[in-house]
Amino acid sequence: MSPAEAQKRIAELRAAVALHDELYHRRAKPEISDFDYDQLKQELAGLENRFPDAARAVGVETPTARVGDDRTEGFARVKHRQAMSTLENTYDEAELREFHARLAKALGPDDLAYTVEPKIDGVAVSLTFEHGQLVRAVTRGDGEEGDDVTVNVRTIRGLPPGLRGGRIPAMVEIRGEIFLREEEFRRINQLQEENGEAPYANPRNLAAGTLKQLDPQLVASRQLEIVLYGLGYCEPKVVDSQSAYHDQLKAWGLPVVEHFWLVRGIDAVWAAIQELDRLRRGFAYGTDGAVVKLDAFAQQNHKGVGYRGMGADGRAEAARKLSPRWACAFKFAPDRAETRVRAITIQVGRTGALTPVAELEPVTLAGTTVKRATLHNADEIARKDVRVGDAVLVEKAGEIIPAVVAVLRKKRPADSPPYAFPRACPVCHTAAVRAEGEVVWRCPNPQCPEKVRRRIEHFASKAGVDIEGLGEEMAALLLEKGLIKSISDIFRLKLEDLLPLKKSGEVWAGNLIAGIDARRDADLWRVINGLGIPQVGAAAAKDLARTFRSLEALAAADEADLLRIDGFGEKTAAAVRAWFADPANRALLCELQAAGVKPAPPAAASSALAGKTFVLTGTLPTLTREDATARIEAAGGKVAGSVSKKTHYVVAGEEAGSKLEKAKTLGVPVLDEAALRRLLGEA
Ligand code: IVH
Repeated sequence: MSPAEAQKRIAELRAAVALHDELYHRRAKPEISDFDYDQLKQELAGLENRFPDAARAVGVETPTARVGDDRTEGFARVKHRQAMSTLENTYDEAELREFHARLAKALGPDDLAYTVEPKIDGVAVSLTFEHGQLVRAVTRGDGEEGDDVTVNVRTIRGLPPGLRGGRIPAMVEIRGEIFLREEEFRRINQLQEENGEAPYANPRNLAAGTLKQLDPQLVASRQLEIVLYGLGYCEPKVVDSQSAYHDQLKAWGLPVVEHFWLVRGIDAVWAAIQELDRLRRGFAYGTDGAVVKLDAFAQQNHKGVGYRGMGADGRAEAARKLSPRWACAFKFAPDRAETRVRAITIQVGRTGALTPVAELEPVTLAGTTVKRATLHNADEIARKDVRVGDAVLVEKAGEIIPAVVAVLRKKRPADSPPYAFPRACPVCHTAAVRAEGEVVWRCPNPQCPEKVRRRIEHFASKAGVDIEGLGEEMAALLLEKGLIKSISDIFRLKLEDLLPLKKSGEVWAGNLIAGIDARRDADLWRVINGLGIPQVGAAAAKDLARTFRSLEALAAADEADLLRIDGFGEKTAAAVRAWFADPANRALLCELQAAGVKPAPPAAASSALAGKTFVLTGTLPTLTREDATARIEAAGGKVAGSVSKKTHYVVAGEEAGSKLEKAKTLGVPVLDEAALRRLLGEA
């Protein structure tokens, strides 16, 4: 590879890693597997090391030198007393042995004592206990400063509010992971679907998404759990080794890891890892690897904290990631199986997106039979060079949808041609288009039968108006028989139309008609969501329903009206405007009205604070931050973490800082506690 090529690739990889960091840490919606992510990062780190000049030419900011940042809007930020570091992952036994060789060389004996612990696939948090009482829970954030999630963490049933027993430090930061059990994950995802929200990809994302909810009641309705294993700041010191610390955590009455091993020498470490691999499926939490730590704190301190990131000299000084040299994370390769690609088919989504799918020879993977795997998009197929007939590895790492992760090139048939992504919609044969800057090819034909089918299916689904009896199969049948051609036709169906469809179908047909009738006054947000407006999911649909209260008012909204909604940016506003400006969509709205569809607006919020966004800053005379938040929320308001033009009020107490300044600059009204209480109707 030439330096110029390296430079180009480094830039590409940095952009890709930054994107996936954002998707994983902030939005809890990853699009690639952890394994693929680790591979991207490893390739980037390798290139940065081999081509330091090229790396510098791209810029000093690199994701290999940063901890992924999980901080989001709506939470107060808190500095950790001791930074929260993270470890580079390895999948390779040889690298683990090198880790030991480095330590043995520096510290002397070859039989160093290590703990081997499960690497829990959850969300990292730091709990501060003062004189034994839990006072704060903070996410990792950028490693130095995280989000204050105390209110949410207090809802975790297995976490006692205080430490019991003796040897209680004046102040201690105890670190661990928050997670959800598999069953709880499935339960919530089912509800999620019924509420028209997208399902979460895996338990870890759901735990992360839950921890960042602004509504503690919602958090309490989900069974988050916690397990503790790490030590941050501690004054005075109470233990001198990691193994003693595990015992101490247990003695304090805290939930701890199911099992850890205290072993000497690297061979024993490796044996413990193998045993962990056999046991891990029985653990309450997902365990995606092992963390190996020097046991003695004195030895840990001797090795200290190293900086990782760009090459040995001339490295970037900015935002360098702290990574302890005394610990190593070994990850188990995800569940994978080898199979063959029988065909590559193209799915047409309701927005026309053409998604390639690998049709596989059925193979058992993590207990289920896998026949299909997504190939994401044309670029992904080209990058992996997946061809029909290829032997491939498929993977399922807690995700719902399995993915093709690698092609076994050596097993490729000699004459196989590269896959040519179709240039036309496979259903209506209209030439496919790809918008500037997008990776997705789309069918642009609004009448494409597949798009129509998907739109109807979506409208009737649990995420839309939720018509009982009108699922995928029924929608397809009604379309095939020519009984419906668009969404509004559903509401014109008559019993006589349905009777011939099935033998002795009276009961069934009657039920379907009743199911449809019952949804003529479906919740407005369900209708809006069901319409499938680009950029508008369930949450945005609910915002629109709350704000405009009818389809007519929404159709008449201009850009400024839409932008006033918290969380609506120009892209969403433009998409909504474009949808309602389209004559075909306007016609659809008229037809729905003519067919007797009268969506129900949300119950009017009783309080004057409904829809109002507050930001709290400084210390109030009597109300704690949690109290103030709870009261504002109970009155229908919302509490956000930072001040913007859309903030309605800033509530400022003593030692208010930059948020107060910003409120003044932007002309946002500032309240003191007394004024807030008046607004709440308390005084
Ligand atoms: S030790 C030494 N121990 O996995 C500082 N981390 O990179 C690193 N994790 O982000 C933490 N289980 O959130 C440690 N038994 C365990 C862990 C663990 C899960 C997470 C942690 C960190 C990452 C390691």
